[in-house]
Amino acid sequence: MHSFENILLEKAAANVYCLTVNRPKVLNALNQATLQDLAAALDVVASDQDARVLLVTGSGEKSFVAGADISQMQGLTPLQAKRFGEQALAIFRRFETLDIPVIALVNGFALGGGCELAMSCDFIFAADNAKFGQPEVSLGVTPGFGGTQRLPRLVGRAMAMEMLVSGRMLDANEALQRGLVNHVYPQAELMEQGLKMAAKIAKNGPTAVKFSKELVQRGQDLDLENACAMESDLFGLCFATEEQSEGMQAFLEKRKANF
Ligand code: HXC
Repeated sequence: MHSFENILLEKAAANVYCLTVNRPKVLNALNQATLQDLAAALDVVASDQDARVLLVTGSGEKSFVAGADISQMQGLTPLQAKRFGEQALAIFRRFETLDIPVIALVNGFALGGGCELAMSCDFIFAADNAKFGQPEVSLGVTPGFGGTQRLPRLVGRAMAMEMLVSGRMLDANEALQRGLVNHVYPQAELMEQGLKMAAKIAKNGPTAVKFSKELVQRGQDLDLENACAMESDLFGLCFATEEQSEGMQAFLEKRKANF
């Protein structure tokens, strides 16, 4: 267990880290110190060669993350606010560029910066009490941690626009219908289901998993021809790994691959 002021980072299984935003009294709102802890926790995970999956969740049963910390944001100057947004954007981007898949386990409110954090993970599992929204306009500001860009990419422009200008929240089932979350589970099962998925991922060839993530993440901003060319390159590169020899050999010998 690595201990930070506002983040818990633990090994939830042999190759699986679980990062918990831990400010339950303020529904896990993200202040500057918590962002710094997030960056430090990411350093730990990124430097562990044995890590295969990262789970991200919030403390308590009510909230994943209820947004950026409004009490800390209120007095910011324009330049401080810009810097705060940029700092979070850079840290959230690290979830997308991390070598291993990151799954958000949304156990309640995912609002503003919380929704943006969840959307920076590779995919989302939601508890049945989850609520997703970008209520920034009700505070007189736009989203600042990527919401105006990641939300339309996930739910389409029209629904994103509706959420961004009205501040309306989606409950877990509507988020499922809209493709924002992959599955909805009873709150008590959420972690177990996250760990089950993590175990499935951890059984696969880690380099192939890393390349697959990279191809999806980088490919979505390229034209199809260049994106597919990148796929050919990384597919080819897989044949330089022992994982490819082992994976294919194991199939032909009718046994499970050992990666
Ligand atoms: C600071 C917060 C907070 C937040 C909740 N709290 N959200 N503190 N920042 N984002 C605190 C409350 O002030 C309260 O503290 C305690 O947590 C419990 O919250 P309640 O409001 O009493 O709970 P409840 O009535 O159940 O309502 C839950 C809620 C509501 C609907 C989630 O708390 C809410 O609307 N929160 C704000 C959500 C939001 O607007 N998020 C977007 C932030 S802007 P006390 O001391 O009273 O017990 C953002 C922009 C990012 O994220 C970009 C910046 C660059």
